[in-house]
Amino acid sequence: MNIDWSKLGFHYTEPDYIVRAGYHDGKWEEPYATKDKFLHLHVSATCLQYGQEAFEGLKAFRGVDGKIRIFRWRENAKRMAKSAEGLYMAPVPEELFGKAIRLALEKNMDFLPPYGTGATLYFRPLLIGTTPRLGVGPGRDFEFIVIPSPIGPYYPGKFHCTTFVVNRHVDRAAPYGTGTFKVGGNYASSFRATEPAHAEGMDCLFLDAKYHRYIDECAAANFIGIKKPTPNPSLKGGESRIEYLTPRSSAILPSITNDSLMTLAKDLGMKVTRRHIRLEELSEMSEAAACGTAAVISPIDKVIDPENNRIYRLSDEPGPVLTKLYHALKDIQYGQAEDRHHWCEVIEI
Ligand code: PLP
Ligand code: COI
Repeated sequence: MNIDWSKLGFHYTEPDYIVRAGYHDGKWEEPYATKDKFLHLHVSATCLQYGQEAFEGLKAFRGVDGKIRIFRWRENAKRMAKSAEGLYMAPVPEELFGKAIRLALEKNMDFLPPYGTGATLYFRPLLIGTTPRLGVGPGRDFEFIVIPSPIGPYYPGKFHCTTFVVNRHVDRAAPYGTGTFKVGGNYASSFRATEPAHAEGMDCLFLDAKYHRYIDECAAANFIGIKKPTPNPSLKGGESRIEYLTPRSSAILPSITNDSLMTLAKDLGMKVTRRHIRLEELSEMSEAAACGTAAVISPIDKVIDPENNRIYRLSDEPGPVLTKLYHALKDIQYGQAEDRHHWCEVIEI
């Protein structure tokens, strides 16, 4: 194996094995490992014709103690079941999901990056409809696949700021559409906003599709903002707590990273608020970031709103609050801090 772990970005590296399990006649088969990365798929499969496809993303970490930890995989299994229901697909049972992830790890141990390299083993579970069908409707057959790949940071640089740009001509997902599901269509339909942003070295900040007033989410990650304590004479010492703000929306993916960070923020004594956040409120924030499995915490230095000729400047360097949260999360994932919330499963191989 000749991988320069510290140079990996968020790109596919071909693993030895993937794991697959089919669903036919109302039953899931046992997951199995195969070296074959190609599918023999009918051209009329519902995933190709009508977009019956959902995916997930989760990571395994080699800890400071040499142990392997998989982070909150049950939450990914639950979310994939919701995505499956959202697209009329057979949900993958939680235990099958876990078995497939463990098998994918076991069969690809050479691809688990060593501790200290900044790289991790990412799993991309995929669920597709395979029934041939031309009449508009869902299929009855499905394939669950786990594709492992070692990866580095999603945004270049380990913990470094990214600029986001607002685009009012492309919406990521409609209220009560498929935004809360992790389905490929949400990403394909965003490309016409994200690709031009990437070409300029930025990424997209999506606003709510109905009013274009509130922050929905960052391209492939949730949004978090940090508000400095405001003087509050009714509190002793005159200061209130640091506020961790994140959008409430019926069109965004419920991020497992964001959920974890909200818990850690509360542990650190912050006030955590989930509500509609107007774009202009960026000017009241001292720090902001994109957060997700791939993005971890990716601080935002500025948000550009070209139509209103406005630039919201946050901080040029990762700020103190987000830095603290970043380390609190990473320390749990790498076995460097007590896993008080029982988020990691230690895998013995
Ligand atoms: N939002 C979108 C659109 C995503 O693609 C992701 C990535 O999975 C997230 C948010 C973050 O979710 P999580 O923290 O569960 O990875
Ligand atoms: C993740 O964070 O795991 C994602 O899937 C986001 C993106 C890379 C699609």
